[in-house]
Amino acid sequence: MANKGTRPANPFFTGIIIPDRYFCDREQETKTIIDLIENGNNVVLKAQRRIGKSSLVHHIFNQKRVQEDYNTLYIDLFGTKNYNDFHIAFQNKLINAPFARTAKIKRNFEQILKDINVSLGSYDPATGQVSLPSIGTTPAQMPRIPLEELFGFLETTKKKNLIVFDEFQQIEYYPERMAAILRSHIQQMNNTKFIFSGSSKHMLNMMFMNHNKPFYKSSSNIDLDILDYNKYESFVSGCFEEYGKSIAPEAIRFVYDLFLGETAPMQETMNHVFGKAGRKASAGIPEIKESVAAILESKDESFRTLLNGIEKEKTRNTLYCIAAQGIASNLTSSRIMKDYALDNASSVQNALISLQDDNNPIVRKLTKGTYIIDDRMFELWIAREGNYLDIKFETASDRHQRQRALERPSFQPTAPKS
Ligand SMILES: Nc1ncnc2c1ncn2[C@@H]1O[C@H](COP(=O)(O)OP(=O)(O)OP(=O)(O)O)[C@@H](O)[C@H]1O
Ligand SMILES: [Mg+2]
Repeated sequence: MANKGTRPANPFFTGIIIPDRYFCDREQETKTIIDLIENGNNVVLKAQRRIGKSSLVHHIFNQKRVQEDYNTLYIDLFGTKNYNDFHIAFQNKLINAPFARTAKIKRNFEQILKDINVSLGSYDPATGQVSLPSIGTTPAQMPRIPLEELFGFLETTKKKNLIVFDEFQQIEYYPERMAAILRSHIQQMNNTKFIFSGSSKHMLNMMFMNHNKPFYKSSSNIDLDILDYNKYESFVSGCFEEYGKSIAPEAIRFVYDLFLGETAPMQETMNHVFGKAGRKASAGIPEIKESVAAILESKDESFRTLLNGIEKEKTRNTLYCIAAQGIASNLTSSRIMKDYALDNASSVQNALISLQDDNNPIVRKLTKGTYIIDDRMFELWIAREGNYLDIKFETASDRHQRQRALERPSFQPTAPKS
């Protein structure tokens, strides 16, 4: 346990780098992933948004086994649009990584830069520090060390390397055949292992499970589920207790159900509730509701902007209908179309397509014919605007159970008849 002097003001972290002490569970996943890497496998790590993929890979980087044996590098591909962006993101991270500043590597880079005859204005041979413009600034003039050299260099490091490409599905949207390009480099590497993580399950499944694709069967698959309830409950109450505060178990359950077990909004709410609770104070469901209302208020402008970005009224009506229903089905039935002014079946279909746009998915298909709003905070904000937030609060537990049953149906194969 951290001593008082080093204790953070709030034990509920909302960034992606979390000290081990305040990182909830994920013990099994951490061990499994490190074992896979140590046994020479690459890993594809999938989970829906806001579950905790990025923090988990940083947590893995933080583990003793990894720190001792691997150089680590985290490259976020979110927002990259083409080969150039990828190249810049990768090169920038690699040449500024602490492990790339050793004398040998420095010489390597100096040689490469000399060979390709470019001058990096901000390259300092004494420290090995290179600062390059960030993505989107001046990509055309960006001096590039060929990808081949960057990957090749990783094969020469003394320690092994563990590289994470986060939001890896992004490469499928590049105009270039990036997966094929990367595969040609990656498949030859012995000294470096990769974690490909991302939130678009269907894209990652397509990339890694389709036999026509370059990455077919190249990596072991890990699907990250929501945090286990019991683990989360004892984590939260432990954090409150450590600071002399307390929280009622039913309040933790309420948060867990309200946010369907999604880590980011649960932690955001706990951070707020904790911050508001005075010394020795105890938080219950009313305090949670107050904090959720305050968080929704703080997001008012960004959600309003998101909504304003949906131009067609019919699309907005479809969104309102999904928000009101929670788990929406039979959207094209005449009763629902009438109740929510949805016009006709084909305009509902079009609305669903635009709301599920890969680059900005507002709606997520849960199962065939059922849809939910991807960001539960946004759903709650719409409910607040429609004056039915209380109904969302009251039905949280039922909603969570229904959603879980649809997402993870239990299969009961029939036993042979004797
Ligand atoms: N095991 C954990 N313990 C405590 N907090 C966590 C844990 N995992 C994630 N979080 C918190 O949840 C939030 C979301 O985590 P993270 O950004 O890692 O999720 P993600 O799946 O990468 O999300 P996105 O899809 O938005 O990229 C962060 O604020 C992080 O602090
Ligand atoms: Mg992430």
